[in-house]
Amino acid sequence: MAKFFINGKNRLCGEVELDSAKNALLPILAASIMVDGKVTLEKATAYTDVEAMCDILRALGGVVVRKGDNLEIDCSMLDKCEVSHILASPVRSSIFTLGPLLARLGKAKVAYPGGCDIGLRPIDIHLSSLRQLGCKIVEKNGYIYAEKGKPLTREVFLPFQSVGATENIMMFCSLLPGKSKIYNSAKEPEIVDLANFLNCCGAKIEGSGSDVITITGVENLEGCNYRAISDRIECGTFMIGVAMTGGEAKFANAVSKHNSALIEKLKSCGCLIKEGEDEIFLSAPKRLESFVELETAVYPGFPTDLQPQMVALGSVSKGCSLVIENVFENRFAYVGELLKMGCDIRFKSSICIIRGKDRIFGADVVSTDLRGGASLVLAGLVCEGYTTISRVEFIDRGYFHLEDKLARLGADIKRI
Ligand code: EPZ
Repeated sequence: MAKFFINGKNRLCGEVELDSAKNALLPILAASIMVDGKVTLEKATAYTDVEAMCDILRALGGVVVRKGDNLEIDCSMLDKCEVSHILASPVRSSIFTLGPLLARLGKAKVAYPGGCDIGLRPIDIHLSSLRQLGCKIVEKNGYIYAEKGKPLTREVFLPFQSVGATENIMMFCSLLPGKSKIYNSAKEPEIVDLANFLNCCGAKIEGSGSDVITITGVENLEGCNYRAISDRIECGTFMIGVAMTGGEAKFANAVSKHNSALIEKLKSCGCLIKEGEDEIFLSAPKRLESFVELETAVYPGFPTDLQPQMVALGSVSKGCSLVIENVFENRFAYVGELLKMGCDIRFKSSICIIRGKDRIFGADVVSTDLRGGASLVLAGLVCEGYTTISRVEFIDRGYFHLEDKLARLGADIKRI
């Protein structure tokens, strides 16, 4: 099992070229199930979660070939409707195959998904919405058995602005004759990107990015070339890391409005941030002020996927700060590892209080999940002495060669 080995206290300075958004690529790969023709995804970053989704498409009968940075996908001959436990359980995004398989083949047998251990992560909204749209769904022996039926309604109201449920329903309705509407839909940029990809294939989707999405079903979807948006969570993770080390950096192909909530927080900590057309420049003071309070929320609120990284930032800023996690019910597991580095953090259920320290110290720590692991890496960068981080396979799920990018900014980090 690989580990990261970090010798802390280096300032991060330079330029970061962002990869494609993991959480855009994953539903786009699922949507490719419905496309009758070749899809070329340009600069499709080879996150391990992306590779897992490629294996699922192959198991269904799709052809998926990596050509350099690009993925070439052809699901024209796709004829299987089963996603096994062994393929589904490592990733949350396996559930995104349910809507597309029902749309394309009229039936599906999909094992329950996995994903980071940050809460129960039920799929009840996915299933109740598909049932409203006429699907017959039975849950048995760890599998979801589904069949397309006659829609009871064409208007689905999501009880929570679930990203995955919005994506699943949007994909399913793309091939459903007539007009469907999703109310209280999630508005994340990755949902807009999925809609743009589907429209590029000939779908008719309007309103993505708002809380009402209208889909007019089409007969079929055709292949296209597409490049997903840059990863706003990677961008945010690096911005936080540069800020924690008192450094400065330019973030190329960044969409600043995708990170407006973070930018506002980092400015309140004393960072100078300039937002360009497709880049962000950040320069940080030697020691950050406290961000005082932060609450995670659905987009455009503060992203839950940057919460662990901000707790690491608060741990080395001046003063105290409060973090409230409103999206997932168990997203502070990594805090126990930060305490080993001398951080002063307390949490109870969704509330976390951090007292900033001017010195924290290297330790041997273990990644608990993808973004919790990223938080440990950022803390290691500012620790005095050496830090080892094990279970880096969690981190590789959503960061591509993280250690190389950080080393290019001046961090003393290597994979051992
Ligand atoms: C997506 O997960 C992302 N993953 C997550 O990123 C991200 O944190 C999350 O959206 C919120 O932005 C991918 O896109 C692959 P949700 P998803 O459905 O779709 C509850 C990362 O680190 N819920 O919006 O699973 C759920 O339990 C990952 O990159 C139900 O109750 O998120 C959670 O509390 C982590 N029933 C909340 O809604 C459902 O049927 C948000 O879930 C579905 C969700």
